[in-house]
Amino acid sequence: MSKIRPSKGAPYARILGVGGYRPTRIVPNEVILEKIDSSDEWIRSRSGIETRHWAGPEETVAAMAIEASGKAIADAGIDAEQIGAVVVSTVSHFSQTPAVATEIADKLGTNKAAAFDISAGCAGFGYGLTLAKGIVAEGSAEYVLVIGVERLSDLTDLEDRATAFLFGDGAGAVVVGPSQEPAIGPTVWGSEGDKSETIKQTVPWDRFAIGDVSELPLDSEGNIKFPAITQEGQAVFRWAVFEMAKVAQQALDAAGITADDLDVFIPHQANVRIIDSMVKTLKLPEHVTVARDIRTTGNTSAASIPLAMERLLATGEAKSGDTALVIGFGAGLVYAATVVTLP
Ligand SMILES: CC(C)(COP(=O)(O)OP(=O)(O)OC[C@H]1O[C@@H](n2cnc3c(N)ncnc32)[C@H](O)[C@@H]1OP(=O)(O)O)[C@@H](O)C(=O)NCCC(=O)NCCS
Repeated sequence: MSKIRPSKGAPYARILGVGGYRPTRIVPNEVILEKIDSSDEWIRSRSGIETRHWAGPEETVAAMAIEASGKAIADAGIDAEQIGAVVVSTVSHFSQTPAVATEIADKLGTNKAAAFDISAGCAGFGYGLTLAKGIVAEGSAEYVLVIGVERLSDLTDLEDRATAFLFGDGAGAVVVGPSQEPAIGPTVWGSEGDKSETIKQTVPWDRFAIGDVSELPLDSEGNIKFPAITQEGQAVFRWAVFEMAKVAQQALDAAGITADDLDVFIPHQANVRIIDSMVKTLKLPEHVTVARDIRTTGNTSAASIPLAMERLLATGEAKSGDTALVIGFGAGLVYAATVVTLP
């Protein structure tokens, strides 16, 4: 018989607080049109995006994450010292090591909280939430901070008409803690690595560092382009529309509810047409509030779901205790969907 004492966690976990940070600079489509042949009308009608936020030099990944986290911690009504683990999902923190999570945990004033980064693209928030739920239930931490943060403007090729208009910067964070009743449903998640080429970095850092002009993409002035995110827009669009609606339905089934029981739908903010198509396929009733934060935030990858959640609660379109379906999907390709009770 094992001599190891079982760990003691909470019976269930819930999101206790949410916070967001949007950079101060608002970038309208007109700025994007300076470098690509397109139109405000095309960008709005094909993606839904009207404006996005781009971070300035002071709005680093860590700085934005700390702002969003401070709000989430205050919203949860706890102190930073009570946070036992910090999970940061990002693909745009440029130092490979150490994880940015440790700096964030320290600057927030946690008491040596466990801290690590994960890379799960636009599904990163759902992956982090799933880890947090497990940690709280297992008992290694009472409160876990889950942060999605991106400076995608650093990884955007402004001369690439397929992506220049899509991405934005920002941070969203939630505090996950103990609950007496289920408030984060089972996660339906997975990966489809056979489609990994559909969203990727143009060149890996090591090839970029060697700087061989004969091999690397050049900009219109003949300079080596900084690595950027590139995608096969149509392939990703079709995958999101057809496959992700099924995953969203599986998350509802796993939680034991139907679309009628939902109050709020917060999908990853990739394209307003993807959102509208999912709403139709899932046959979401009129009363369900749908996040369309993409219009003024663009695609902020791991930050998009918590940012949209925070805005819906701040504007009163959603309220504390509402039942929400969240689904993230993107580079990998990876996805994660779950039903949550809003903080
Ligand atoms: C990127 C995206 C908005 C492009 O929309 P789309 O309708 O698929 O556009 P297409 O690439 O099929 O191009 C349609 C036409 O518009 C043109 N076009 C492409 N980009 C354009 C732009 N920025 N401005 C104007 N026209 C453009 C194309 O040349 C094409 O013209 P043609 O019909 O004469 O050949 C869309 O594919 C998308 O949102 N994809 C998924 C994004 C996503 O979810 N990413 C996940 C990251 S997590």
